[in-house]
Amino acid sequence: MFHLGLFTGCGVQSWKDMWSGEGATDWMSPQLYIDVARAVERAGFDCIILEDAHFVPDVFRGNTDFALKNGFHAPKMDLFVMTPFMLTATKHLGILPTLTTTFHPPYMAARTLATLDHLSGGRGGANLVMSHNDRTAQNFGLDGQADHDLRYDQGDEWVQLVTELWNSWDADALTVDRDNGVYVDPAKVHEIHFSGRFYRSRGPLNSLHPPQGRPVFSQAGGSGRGKDFAARNVDLVMTNVTGIDTMKAFRDDLVARLETFGRKPDSCKVMFNVAPVLGETQREAEEKRAAAVAAREANIESNLGWMSYYSGIDFGKFDLDAPMPQMHTNASRSTTQNLQAKSTGLTLREFASYPSGGAVELVGTPDAVAAQMGEVMVEVGGDGFLIQQPMFRRAISEITDGLAPALRRRGLIRDGYSYPHFRDNLLEF
Ligand SMILES: Cc1cc2nc3c(=O)[nH]c(=O)nc-3n(C[C@H](O)[C@H](O)[C@H](O)COP(=O)(O)O)c2cc1C
Repeated sequence: MFHLGLFTGCGVQSWKDMWSGEGATDWMSPQLYIDVARAVERAGFDCIILEDAHFVPDVFRGNTDFALKNGFHAPKMDLFVMTPFMLTATKHLGILPTLTTTFHPPYMAARTLATLDHLSGGRGGANLVMSHNDRTAQNFGLDGQADHDLRYDQGDEWVQLVTELWNSWDADALTVDRDNGVYVDPAKVHEIHFSGRFYRSRGPLNSLHPPQGRPVFSQAGGSGRGKDFAARNVDLVMTNVTGIDTMKAFRDDLVARLETFGRKPDSCKVMFNVAPVLGETQREAEEKRAAAVAAREANIESNLGWMSYYSGIDFGKFDLDAPMPQMHTNASRSTTQNLQAKSTGLTLREFASYPSGGAVELVGTPDAVAAQMGEVMVEVGGDGFLIQQPMFRRAISEITDGLAPALRRRGLIRDGYSYPHFRDNLLEF
């Protein structure tokens, strides 16, 4: 069996799509997220990971026109306001809103995540990012981002402090002893006097110890330093690597790093990003994919905008018919290196027209795609897929009511949830 997660965001995404309903405005209401959360829970997913950033993109062509005209990563809703709606509408699903360790004070994060974990009965967590864009840093009063690896050093200490704050309350500190008039046992609540390189905090936290002890953390940094951060701190890693050999190498590398940090190899799961294209027949699915490729070729701007967003390099300033430029970045390093590797021998125009199908291309009927996903997981060794779909009901339904039942009939995904807590379900197999 393998795990499934949905990767999406709480911003405008599919406002032009014929099947997106009131896509231009639906994203502003909780109902869309509630419907999607219920659908993926019914389908047996482990979690939804909610994407985020704190800036209006302006790298591409040096201004915000592309982002604002297209609704590209702007505008967005605040994830920590949207997440409780989804948790309340579900019983088993984990929800991981993205949270930047660089700009979110540890005390506040510890309190927010403990609260979400309590409100949901042990399904809270966060997708940790270090922020990759200078504009974010400028929105928080800095001139630019700190050096790539330093951001991860700070992130390590952030996790350490947040964890100490959660542990500043023993799990059994709440005694509710009516006979002796003791609500919380003072001996079970501790000052921490944390003093590190980046943070200081006295403690204790003024929230109870979270039901999961530690809410679930995921992250997606794929550089060596990013994988060390994952191996030290998180329960789930998501990645954009492509091809079976690379997927296997990525997972083997992470498992080796887990052992270096004294953790069990199965204590952190890897989800590989995929974007299945489904049809009632193989031919219909292939036609859908061909139409998507043609649309991309006709509008390579959107891919140039995406590449600029992640790399921090303005792809609007290069000659489209010259070979792909050499890229060096302090932003998303592994994503940029992946772009470089995949574009060898191509011009920028050719590369930007290239379809990005995810870790492996999945095109076919639900049953054919389910079979292929099963084979891929056997070859890679685990642990699951991160499904990336447009955020509207028809697109989600193809996955939850077409693909997921086909996967379940093959015994490839869960048939129910064994435990009340998110992490226990995630680490069950
Ligand atoms: C599937 C996936 C999802 C990501 N989601 C976000 C996100 O929501 N917000 C963000 O700031 N960065 C996001 N990132 C970027 C990562 O946090 C990280 O910056 C990037 O993978 C580069 O890491 P590296 O510099 O260690 O290679 C995502 C990356 C991947 C692969």
